[in-house]
Amino acid sequence: MRYLGHMRILAIETSCDETGVCLLETRDDGTFHVLGNALYSQVAVHAPYGGVYPNLAKREHSVNLVPVMIECFAAAGALSRATSDIPDVESVHTILEREPELFAELASFLSQHGKPQIDAIAVTHGPGLEPALWVGVNFARALSQLWNVPIVPVNHMEGHIIMPMMHLLPDTKDVFDLDDAQYPLLALLVSGGHTELVLSKEPMHYEIIGQTRDDAAGEAFDKVARLLGLPYPGGPEISRLAALARASGESCRYVFPRPMLYSGDYDFSFSGLKTELRKHVQSLDELTDETRMHTAWAFEDAVVDTLVHKTAKVTDEHGVQTVVLGGGVSANTHLRAQLKEALDARSITLLVPPPALSTDNAVMIALAGALRAAHNDYADPATLTAHGHLRLA
Ligand code: KG4
Ligand code: ZN
Repeated sequence: MRYLGHMRILAIETSCDETGVCLLETRDDGTFHVLGNALYSQVAVHAPYGGVYPNLAKREHSVNLVPVMIECFAAAGALSRATSDIPDVESVHTILEREPELFAELASFLSQHGKPQIDAIAVTHGPGLEPALWVGVNFARALSQLWNVPIVPVNHMEGHIIMPMMHLLPDTKDVFDLDDAQYPLLALLVSGGHTELVLSKEPMHYEIIGQTRDDAAGEAFDKVARLLGLPYPGGPEISRLAALARASGESCRYVFPRPMLYSGDYDFSFSGLKTELRKHVQSLDELTDETRMHTAWAFEDAVVDTLVHKTAKVTDEHGVQTVVLGGGVSANTHLRAQLKEALDARSITLLVPPPALSTDNAVMIALAGALRAAHNDYADPATLTAHGHLRLA
């Protein structure tokens, strides 16, 4: 893995419903310092709809991106006063044509504040909700032109892979170094939009060897939560109820099928399980606290069992040395514990992200951006586009 030396990277994440901005400094000794990190979650905005609305997400990013950036710079002590040579915001008018709120906020920012000391801008350009991704991409293009700094495009899923590979230095809250992971490495990526098994035989080279054929794991959690009358996002709620149920000392009342367990490949499918859950909920006389808890428990067991079984199968068949667990569902404590147990039995190292950095954030984009910059993976801002279905390999 190559390091950058001393560099400051501004990272922008807008792929789904979190607006994230991070200011990261890489040092000559190979350490990564988070100078500022701010995140605005749109969860409350989308909750009434039970899912993320792409155009609403786009508008929210557009309104909130500059305030989030200001919060990040302020935390980093990087907010300076405007000097006499204020860049001409009109020169980026066409870039931000479709984000009028963002353009107005940026104009106001530039009239008050000067350029912070940054050497590159890392931005998520996919995968995700395309209208949401475009906000971050266009913002990065505008800043790149105004401040004359290059852009490093980042694949959101690579961010989820890199995050667990970083470890916090002892006695710090925000200084990381890169784990000395052994290859072949396998990433189990489980988020609201993805469920993938990614094999990496050397750093930053990926091969998707298994994926979901329908719903993503996080999506299944969210949909089942909705069936149980739980608020969006459902993953944390189901996980909380399942943990309560497990601690009750009772045994689980229900059991659901483990989809595709013996399909002979590394693919997943969660839509059948969701249908089973719907039938089960309809068959209940009443959805009580008890039945809800036991249903959450049985559902979580089925999903976790399937994920762990398939992951272990790949490690056995590909001589995997290290497993990284990434994406929002990696916050699930039962998944972490079960996976650890299966991998410990095989003497395979499991790397997980710090819980607070499991779901979407800009720190992971900054870290992946730093590694990409070390490979000179810069993009031409004029032709940079957002790709909703961007793939890792
Ligand atoms: O990676 P992420 O923040 O956003 C995407 O890129 O999709 O993942 C969000 C997903 C949601 O579906 C949410 O329900 C799920 O992660 N999630 C969880 C937990 N925390 C978040 N699922 C299960 N257990 C959790 N504790
Ligand atoms: Zn994500």
